Parts: sequence; structure tokens; C-alpha cells
Amino acid sequence: MNDSGHTSLPVALAPAETAAPAAVEHDYSLTAVPGWWWQPQDVKHLIELYAARPIFDDTAEWLIRDNPYRRPIDRQSIKDFDFSQPLNKSAALGASALAAHRMLLNIYETDLIFLPDKNFEAKRKDFASYYSNDNKLLGEVIRPTLEAHVFDFLKDEINVTGKWSLEAVKSYLQSLIAKHEQSELELCTAILSSADPQRACRALMVQLACDFLTEASASTRNILGKYGDIQSEFFKIVIDDYGYGVHPAKHSTLYENTLATCGLISEAHAYWQFYLSSSLALSNYYHYVSRDHSKYFQAIGAIAVAESMFSHTCHKISQMLHAVFGKTVDTYYFDEHFHIDAHHGRMAFEHVVAPAIERHGNAVIPDIVRGMEELQVLTSLADEDFIAQVSFCDEAEDLKAAGRRIHAQILEGSVEKPATTHVANRSQSLVTRVYDQDQLYVVESGELDLVLGPDQTVRLGRGEAMIVKRERLHGTAVVSDESLYSVYEMGNER
Ligand SMILES: [Fe+2]
Ligand SMILES: [Fe+2]
Repeated sequence: MNDSGHTSLPVALAPAETAAPAAVEHDYSLTAVPGWWWQPQDVKHLIELYAARPIFDDTAEWLIRDNPYRRPIDRQSIKDFDFSQPLNKSAALGASALAAHRMLLNIYETDLIFLPDKNFEAKRKDFASYYSNDNKLLGEVIRPTLEAHVFDFLKDEINVTGKWSLEAVKSYLQSLIAKHEQSELELCTAILSSADPQRACRALMVQLACDFLTEASASTRNILGKYGDIQSEFFKIVIDDYGYGVHPAKHSTLYENTLATCGLISEAHAYWQFYLSSSLALSNYYHYVSRDHSKYFQAIGAIAVAESMFSHTCHKISQMLHAVFGKTVDTYYFDEHFHIDAHHGRMAFEHVVAPAIERHGNAVIPDIVRGMEELQVLTSLADEDFIAQVSFCDEAEDLKAAGRRIHAQILEGSVEKPATTHVANRSQSLVTRVYDQDQLYVVESGELDLVLGPDQTVRLGRGEAMIVKRERLHGTAVVSDESLYSVYEMGNER
């Protein structure tokens, strides 16, 4: 870190100038209008109403084929969550964060156009419902509460202090890039050392699909309006991502090819049920700062960092893909970004960030640096979450053995844990979840599948058990006519 600008210490920024003498101050915010704005209990009700919209219901299948409007939120669990308070970082991968991020992506993406590949007529009702004013207005009312719930922790995590200059921002960014370019990328190391590298690699491709299949859509929000030549420079980055109007060259099309050669589906959000909340958080963050244009300077900071770092990330992922799948995998998406994002990183800094500082003054720097820092916090959370999910999937057999041992202790009375009992049948609807505490699943009768990923299922027969660790995404599906199973709350120690 250079000595002229600092991030991270919780010291307030000194005001640049003394404020002008105050005239009579009026509060023009809607929250100041008596009886007009929603109280927290009203917002809770509106969130439940939003989650109860039929398009957001649990689904009949784990994969959602060619219907981009079906986006389960887990209506059942939502009633138990308190969205009125910001989460702190330690809860950023928890159950309410997952639900909030699912809702936020649904809300943001009503600005994007999604159409199914085939049979539109059969999906017309869902299309109309997703883009209806009811859906959009309800989403808008609950959006600020959900955003505060999942993003406000970043305000505590990062404080940008001190005296910054353009030169200081430049050397700060260069040092970030230099450090990143020396890293091996923990994600790739985790995949290569996984018990099943192909499964782990496909899991990463699924997480990336959340953003890459609509690549740069959030960013297009920043090229609307009128703000001088910086706007046109920004536009160049976006049109590169859009392949200059040549569909086979559009970056999202390149990613579809990668998915296909990994044996994955490339329809938008087919793997919705398997997105980790940290992957949703990354997609949502670009919308969060690009949709609310008071966050414009955060947005350009975040994009400058993302573009600058993506080149090395793509280089490493491309090598990893070849190591895992050999020659058959199409890595062109990553190879193209290795090349173009080194260029985009420079463009974003030299033609967007630097002229923005020159034109609008050093007072915009703290927001720009905040965007750079926030994106890095969310990226490292996403890495941590993904790596934890890979180890969880690798450890399934050990977690069954641990479950068996603990269940035996419960039966003999040496361990006591609160439990809930469920009876379900094969026709149950499906939704993936995370819990804030470790859970012990025990099947009393019938057969239950614990679904850990799109291609990994652990089947539990009568008397079998398994631990599911806190914050690990999984679903349950009864595969016998009926099953009775218990779920014990284990807390966080084992
Ligand atoms: Fe791109
Ligand atoms: Fe790019």
C-alpha cells in the first residue's frame, strides 16, 4: 500500500471543504412522509408476497430447462428470516443471504431480456408474470431492504481514508494486479486436488454461468445517458464483450461453447438451484452499483479491478480446464479474455477511471477505491465458498460415517439435539438450501436423496444418516413412495 491513500482502517474521511451555510433544511425523502413509507414489518410481508409468486415456487426438477423466468426462492424458509438488519461478514454465506440474493437477482434481471429457445407459447404466462408491473413494483419496494441486508457489511469491512491522488490510485491498482498475477488461483488448485476434478470443474463452470451467460449486461447500464467521452470509452469495453454484434463472437456465446464441451447445459439459469449465494452476490454486486447511478464511481472502480484481474484468472482457468478435460474442452472463452482483458484493464483505467478523476476531482476517488475493494472482498468470499463446497462434496462418505456415529450416540442417549421430523413423498417440490448450523439427516423409513450438486447425489436408506455442514448448499428428494426422516440441529461443533 502506498503512503498517500489507505483502505481498511475505520477512520472517517475528513471533509474536503467546509459546508456552505445551511438554509432551512427540508427532508424530501419518502421515508419522511408520515404513513407513506413501509415499516420493517410491512416490508417483511411484502417479501413474503414476492417470494410467493408462482414463478418463484420450488420446481419439479433440479434443472430448470429452457425457462428463464422460473427462479425458486424457497418461499417456505423465507418466513423465518429477518431481512430488516444488515448481515455481518460472518453471516454472508448463510441461509437468509442465499434467499436475499436469489430475490435480488430476480429483481435486477427484470431489466434484462430473456426468451426461451423453444416453445415460447407454453411459457408465455411465466414471461408475462416475470415482466409484469406487479412483479417489478413489488421487487422495487423490497430491493433496498434486501440490498442493505447483504451489502451493508461492506461498509464496515472497508474504509477508504487519507489523501488520494490519481497517481496513488494507479500504483494501488498496479500493486493489486502484480500480486494477483503471481497467485496460483486457489480455485484451480482446489479443483485439481479434488477427489473428482471433473465434477469440481463442472461445479465451477455452473457458478460462472450465473454471470457469464449474460456477460456485461449489468455494465450496459453504465453506457446509457450523456456524460462525455468517457462514456464512449466505456462503450468500447462493453461492445467487445458483445462481440461487436457478431453473435458467434459474443463472449456469452463463447461461454456456451465451453459449457457444452464440459457436458453442461447453456440455457440461462438452468442451474439456478445450484448457484452458491456468493456467486449470486458477485452478479448482484455489478447490478447493485450499476443500476443505482449514485454508485457510478464505485461501478467504474469495480469494473477496472475486474477487467484488470480477469486476464490472469482466465489464463489459470484455461490451463486447469485442459488439465482436467484434456483437449476436448473449448477454452476459447478464457483464452480470449486472457488476451482482451489485459487490454480492457488498461482501457478501464486509462480511459475511464483516470479521466473521471481528472474531470470530477479527487473527491470521487474514495468511491472508486471502494468499488475496487468491495469487489475483491466479494471475490474472495466467492472463492472461499466455492472451495468449501468442493470439499463438502468430496467428503460425502466421511460425512455419512460421522452421521452414523452421532446418530448412534443420539439413540443411546449420550447426545441430545433438537430434531424435526418430516414425512414427504416422491411428488414433493424441490429447492436447494443452506442452513446456518450443521444438520444431521437420519432416514427412519423409505429412501431420501441428498443432492449436493447437479451430478452428485447421496442416497440414504432406512437407518442411514449424514451430516450436512453449515452453509453448504444441498437439496433433498424422496425417492421411495414415502419417506420419514429426521433432521437434527447439530450446532457448529462436532
Ligand atoms: Fe468479456
Ligand atoms: Fe473484458
